[in-house]
Amino acid sequence: MKVFITGGLRSVGTMVRALGIVDGIGVGSLAAQEPRLAEDILEGRVGGAVRPLALFNNSSGLGVLAAVMQIRQVADGLEPFDLSDPNDVKVLWEVIKGLKRSSEDDGEEVEVVDFPEWTGKVRPYGM
Ligand SMILES: Cc1cc2nc3c(=O)[nH]c(=O)nc-3n(C[C@H](O)[C@H](O)[C@H](O)COP(=O)(O)O)c2cc1C
Repeated sequence: MKVFITGGLRSVGTMVRALGIVDGIGVGSLAAQEPRLAEDILEGRVGGAVRPLALFNNSSGLGVLAAVMQIRQVADGLEPFDLSDPNDVKVLWEVIKGLKRSSEDDGEEVEVVDFPEWTGKVRPYGM
Protein backbone atom coordinates (compact mmCIF):
# COMPACT_ATOMS: atom_id res chain seq x y z
CA MET A 1 0.00 0.00 0.00
CA LYS A 2 1.26 3.47 -0.90
CA VAL A 3 0.45 6.41 1.38
CA PHE A 4 0.13 9.94 0.02
CA ILE A 5 -0.53 13.20 1.80
CA THR A 6 -2.28 16.24 0.33
CA GLY A 7 -3.53 19.61 1.52
CA GLY A 8 -1.75 22.84 2.36
CA LEU A 9 1.70 21.82 1.12
CA ARG A 10 3.33 24.94 -0.25
CA SER A 11 7.09 25.12 0.24
CA VAL A 12 9.54 22.68 -1.32
CA GLY A 13 11.06 22.14 2.16
CA THR A 14 7.73 20.93 3.52
CA MET A 15 7.13 18.73 0.48
CA VAL A 16 10.56 17.12 0.82
CA ARG A 17 10.08 16.56 4.56
CA ALA A 18 6.68 14.96 3.88
CA LEU A 19 8.31 12.64 1.33
CA GLY A 20 10.56 11.40 4.12
CA ILE A 21 7.44 10.03 5.83
CA VAL A 22 4.94 9.15 3.10
CA ASP A 23 5.28 7.74 -0.41
CA GLY A 24 3.91 10.72 -2.30
CA ILE A 25 2.32 14.13 -2.11
CA GLY A 26 -0.58 15.69 -3.94
CA VAL A 27 -1.30 19.31 -4.73
CA GLY A 28 -4.64 20.69 -5.86
CA SER A 29 -5.29 24.41 -5.73
CA LEU A 30 -1.57 25.14 -6.15
CA ALA A 31 -1.58 23.52 -9.58
CA ALA A 32 -4.66 25.52 -10.61
CA GLN A 33 -2.85 28.73 -9.64
CA GLU A 34 0.48 27.62 -11.16
CA PRO A 35 0.03 24.93 -13.82
CA ARG A 36 3.84 24.74 -14.35
CA LEU A 37 4.60 24.44 -10.63
CA ALA A 38 5.84 20.82 -10.61
CA GLU A 39 8.23 21.49 -13.49
CA ASP A 40 9.40 24.77 -11.93
CA ILE A 41 10.16 22.99 -8.64
CA LEU A 42 11.97 20.08 -10.30
CA GLU A 43 14.05 22.50 -12.39
CA GLY A 44 14.91 24.47 -9.23
CA ARG A 45 13.32 27.69 -10.49
CA VAL A 46 11.08 28.21 -7.44
CA GLY A 47 11.23 27.28 -3.75
CA GLY A 48 7.49 26.76 -3.47
CA ALA A 49 4.06 27.90 -4.54
CA VAL A 50 2.91 31.51 -4.42
CA ARG A 51 0.88 32.30 -1.33
CA PRO A 52 -2.73 33.36 -2.06
CA LEU A 53 -4.10 36.30 -0.14
CA ALA A 54 -6.25 35.42 2.87
CA LEU A 55 -9.78 34.19 2.02
CA PHE A 56 -8.43 32.06 -0.84
CA ASN A 57 -5.60 30.53 1.13
CA ASN A 58 -7.18 27.11 1.60
CA SER A 59 -8.51 24.23 -0.43
CA SER A 60 -12.11 24.46 0.66
CA GLY A 61 -14.94 26.86 -0.15
CA LEU A 62 -13.62 29.99 -1.81
CA GLY A 63 -10.26 28.35 -2.54
CA VAL A 64 -11.92 25.60 -4.56
CA LEU A 65 -14.22 28.07 -6.32
CA ALA A 66 -11.16 30.08 -7.39
CA ALA A 67 -9.32 26.92 -8.47
CA VAL A 68 -12.21 25.77 -10.67
CA MET A 69 -12.29 29.18 -12.36
CA GLN A 70 -8.52 29.05 -12.88
CA ILE A 71 -8.67 25.53 -14.35
CA ARG A 72 -11.36 26.70 -16.76
CA GLN A 73 -9.16 29.63 -17.83
CA VAL A 74 -6.28 27.28 -18.62
CA ALA A 75 -8.68 25.04 -20.57
CA ASP A 76 -9.66 28.13 -22.55
CA GLY A 77 -5.99 28.84 -23.38
CA LEU A 78 -5.53 31.61 -20.81
CA GLU A 79 -3.18 32.15 -17.91
CA PRO A 80 -5.02 31.72 -14.61
CA PHE A 81 -5.60 34.83 -12.56
CA ASP A 82 -3.23 35.36 -9.63
CA LEU A 83 -4.56 34.91 -6.11
CA SER A 84 -1.43 36.58 -4.71
CA ASP A 85 -2.21 39.75 -6.69
CA PRO A 86 -4.47 42.17 -4.77
CA ASN A 87 -5.94 43.49 -8.04
CA ASP A 88 -6.98 40.02 -9.21
CA VAL A 89 -8.38 39.17 -5.77
CA LYS A 90 -10.41 42.40 -5.89
CA VAL A 91 -11.91 41.40 -9.26
CA LEU A 92 -12.66 37.89 -7.99
CA TRP A 93 -14.31 39.25 -4.87
CA GLU A 94 -16.55 41.48 -7.02
CA VAL A 95 -17.54 38.44 -9.11
CA ILE A 96 -18.44 36.53 -5.96
CA LYS A 97 -20.36 39.46 -4.44
CA GLY A 98 -22.24 39.83 -7.75
CA LEU A 99 -23.38 36.22 -7.52
CA LYS A 100 -24.80 36.78 -4.07
CA ARG A 101 -26.56 39.98 -5.10
CA SER A 102 -28.25 38.44 -8.15
CA SER A 103 -29.63 35.59 -6.06
CA GLU A 104 -30.95 38.04 -3.45
CA ASP A 105 -32.51 40.25 -6.17
CA ASP A 106 -34.52 37.34 -7.47
CA GLY A 107 -35.99 36.78 -4.03
CA GLU A 108 -35.94 33.07 -4.69
CA GLU A 109 -33.77 30.21 -3.70
CA VAL A 110 -31.14 29.83 -6.37
CA GLU A 111 -29.44 26.63 -7.29
CA VAL A 112 -25.96 27.41 -8.55
CA VAL A 113 -25.36 25.12 -11.51
CA ASP A 114 -22.19 26.67 -12.93
CA PHE A 115 -19.11 28.50 -11.75
CA PRO A 116 -18.78 32.21 -12.49
CA GLU A 117 -16.74 33.59 -15.38
CA TRP A 118 -13.61 35.60 -14.71
CA THR A 119 -14.27 39.25 -15.63
CA GLY A 120 -10.77 40.68 -15.14
CA LYS A 121 -7.85 41.09 -17.52
CA VAL A 122 -6.69 37.97 -19.35
CA ARG A 123 -3.41 36.83 -20.90
CA PRO A 124 -2.91 33.99 -23.38
CA TYR A 125 -1.45 30.87 -21.75
CA GLY A 126 2.35 30.91 -21.79
CA MET A 127 2.67 34.64 -22.42
C1 LIG B 1 -10.87 22.34 -7.88
C2 LIG B 1 -10.77 21.33 -6.79
C3 LIG B 1 -11.70 20.32 -6.71
C4 LIG B 1 -11.63 19.37 -5.69
N1 LIG B 1 -12.57 18.39 -5.64
C5 LIG B 1 -12.50 17.46 -4.67
C6 LIG B 1 -13.45 16.41 -4.59
O1 LIG B 1 -14.38 16.34 -5.39
N2 LIG B 1 -13.32 15.49 -3.61
C7 LIG B 1 -12.29 15.52 -2.70
O2 LIG B 1 -12.21 14.65 -1.83
N3 LIG B 1 -11.37 16.51 -2.75
C8 LIG B 1 -11.44 17.46 -3.71
N4 LIG B 1 -10.51 18.47 -3.74
C9 LIG B 1 -9.42 18.47 -2.76
C10 LIG B 1 -8.16 17.90 -3.37
O3 LIG B 1 -8.34 16.55 -3.73
C11 LIG B 1 -6.95 17.98 -2.45
O4 LIG B 1 -7.18 17.21 -1.29
C12 LIG B 1 -6.68 19.39 -2.01
O5 LIG B 1 -6.90 20.28 -3.06
C13 LIG B 1 -5.22 19.45 -1.59
O6 LIG B 1 -4.96 20.68 -0.98
P1 LIG B 1 -4.24 21.87 -1.75
O7 LIG B 1 -5.27 22.44 -2.66
O8 LIG B 1 -3.83 22.80 -0.64
O9 LIG B 1 -3.07 21.30 -2.52
C14 LIG B 1 -10.58 19.43 -4.74
C15 LIG B 1 -9.64 20.46 -4.84
C16 LIG B 1 -9.72 21.40 -5.84
C17 LIG B 1 -8.68 22.50 -5.89
